[in-house]
Amino acid sequence: MKCVDDFRLKLNGKEYVPIVIGGMGVDISTEKLALEAARLGGIGHISDAMSMDSADRYFGTSYTKNKTFQFKALIGQKDKSGIVFNLGEVEEATRLHVASAMEKKKGDGLIFINCMEKLTMNAPRETLRARLRAAMDAGIDGITLAAGLHANSFKLIEDHPRFRDVKLGIIVSSVRALQIFLRRNAKLNRLPDYVVVEGPLAGGHLGFGLDWAKYDLKTIVGEIIEYLKAEKLEIPLIAAGGVFTGSDAVSFMEQGVGGVQVATRFTISKECGLPDKAKQAYLSANEDDIEVNLVSPTGYPMRMLKKTPAIGIGLRPNCESYGYLLENGKCAYLDEYYRELGSRPDGKIIAVKDKICLCTHMRNYNVWTCGHYTYRLKETTRQMGDGSYELPDAAHIFRDYQFSKDHKILLPGE
Ligand SMILES: Cc1cc2nc3c(=O)[nH]c(=O)nc-3n(C[C@H](O)[C@H](O)[C@H](O)COP(=O)(O)O)c2cc1C
Repeated sequence: MKCVDDFRLKLNGKEYVPIVIGGMGVDISTEKLALEAARLGGIGHISDAMSMDSADRYFGTSYTKNKTFQFKALIGQKDKSGIVFNLGEVEEATRLHVASAMEKKKGDGLIFINCMEKLTMNAPRETLRARLRAAMDAGIDGITLAAGLHANSFKLIEDHPRFRDVKLGIIVSSVRALQIFLRRNAKLNRLPDYVVVEGPLAGGHLGFGLDWAKYDLKTIVGEIIEYLKAEKLEIPLIAAGGVFTGSDAVSFMEQGVGGVQVATRFTISKECGLPDKAKQAYLSANEDDIEVNLVSPTGYPMRMLKKTPAIGIGLRPNCESYGYLLENGKCAYLDEYYRELGSRPDGKIIAVKDKICLCTHMRNYNVWTCGHYTYRLKETTRQMGDGSYELPDAAHIFRDYQFSKDHKILLPGE
């Protein structure tokens, strides 16, 4: 019986342990977590979601405070079209974040950054361009294009000196999405270096509707393998979503993928950015405590614990400070918030049920998004005398994926 360590992920002629820790915004996949994956010879992701806010936290900058002050006249107004991100600051924040991780990197692995197209920041093209280019300037090993079709993203960086050297990948959930991406980028003569195929059991936003349960990762991977074969394209695939044990990973490697991308198992690691309260909630969750819902204003379904603290909270929108989801001054939470406000004669909001203020709540770790198998996390560690669970370190989880056989999961210290 094989284990993951019997395989290697080949990217541009080099070999890596075929375990990728997926990007988890906002700062859930921390620099520390990504560094561990790289140290152990695999690939770790940082996320560029709300990078200005993360920079304020880690590097003592004041981007968020200054932006709030600049746009304070819009507080309490529904139309946020006047909010503009300072592109120089967006770049600076990304550079600080990326350079900090790259300077500390040890080992043979790589550090990638997860860039979500859905972070439209009231100027989708310009802000994405700034984020991508700044990450390349600061020496990132690779960029994973996420949460969107990214039909034009390569174009935004084609004249960057690192366009052909930085590793570029895209996350897709169907063969069709990959076809669109490849067709739109055909003229650039630059294929992605890897394609993450994310199935319906993943955490975060999903590339599926509420009928996600009808789809299955193995089938989608099989379709993409067939398509690439027919097109005579050799692009390594990375299977993601519900890969819970090393043996799950091996079954995908035997199907023909180059590696797996995993996240849920690492959400309870010491290095993960979530607060301990959230980690313990993940660990004690049962299957029926988890749902896929539509509360994210992005319009994409999202998987989370039903008791996610953000759900139902009627918070005043904070777009002046954040505003990462604004497009033409709009966000679905703004609509819901002002509709609710308008329906109350006393002008007081008690609850907004259908959407959440994603920026504010992600920033405060109040969106407990998680993968489908979160309810199995309790199998991966020990419960202590007080009922809480021991938090494993990332290296333990990584090695368990790498060396375990027969669906065995080693407990911390074993
Ligand atoms: C807490 C959490 C947050 C996530 N956030 C993001 C994100 O910001 N961007 C993204 O592309 N994927 C995100 N994902 C998806 C993961 O990167 C990964 O592809 C997927 O969850 C792998 O499946 P698994 O969690 O079953 O291992 C997130 C997943 C989790 C669990």
